[in-house]
Amino acid sequence: PPTALWEPLSGYGIAGSVNVTGDEVKKLDVLSNSLVINMLQSSYSTCVLVSEENKDAIITTKEKRGKYVVCFDPLDGSSNIDCLASIGTIFAIYRKTSEDEPSEKDALQCGRNIVAAGYALYGSATLVALSTGQGVDLFMLDPALGEFVLVEKDVKIKKKGKIYSLNEGYAKYFDAATTEYVQKKKFPEDGSAPYGARYVGSMVADVHRTLVYGGIFLYPANQKSPKGKLRLLYECNPVAYIIEQAGGLATTGTQPVLDVKPEAIHQRVPLILGSPEDVQEYLTCVQKNQAGS
Ligand code: F6P
Repeated sequence: PPTALWEPLSGYGIAGSVNVTGDEVKKLDVLSNSLVINMLQSSYSTCVLVSEENKDAIITTKEKRGKYVVCFDPLDGSSNIDCLASIGTIFAIYRKTSEDEPSEKDALQCGRNIVAAGYALYGSATLVALSTGQGVDLFMLDPALGEFVLVEKDVKIKKKGKIYSLNEGYAKYFDAATTEYVQKKKFPEDGSAPYGARYVGSMVADVHRTLVYGGIFLYPANQKSPKGKLRLLYECNPVAYIIEQAGGLATTGTQPVLDVKPEAIHQRVPLILGSPEDVQEYLTCVQKNQAGS
């Protein structure tokens, strides 16, 4: 009998478990994770891998070992898989710094040590944003060639944008600074036009829009998630690196994301990033509310 080109939608659905940080695992998460792990290990360049989908760090076998530590989210935004909205893959690469046997500790480096980071975005086209510390370059997949083609070199984020992006459904749980900031975007006191609101719910898509159009993306701490939701090593650090390299800012609200010294591989931090003037305005709200409390 002829084989179906596409499995029914349920074929893309849930794999039947939750991962270490409590997200429902989808079949594509499992597939992406093994693809990324296999590619990295067969590159003979890695020694320690940290994946969102694995509770413990993965240590590359001796014969395939190299000097790099890679932290990655194989498929970010998996709640968007079934509705076909954009999703992506995020990664940050570090050098192993100690002479010891490779272990989880090698991944507990702060984002300032990143040697390269970026993301792939599977949207209306497939794109890779990459930085090796000299700005950010964008590569688009040309399906006819089967190659990623450089389409933009050294992209810079706008100083100030016109879009704010956060899950406003959590407004009830926002802290005072976030509430004040969002209010200012909707009802500007200087008579300027209000900001537009956009929220895909795939961080990688929301961050890429912020890089390209400017503005601000926030996943702040709230009463329900006192440390925010997003994971430092493989979600926040890579995108913070890209945004800083493009001239933007990425903060937890109290310090630059890239300065956070990780204590655990799956730790969460609040993330606020984007155009420098927009992020600065958010930080002003934070300082004002701290002073008032
Ligand atoms: O961490 C996974 C993720 O899907 C991110 O890509 C996204 O920014 C966030 O969760 C959305 O979370 P929420 O549904 O709480 O807004």
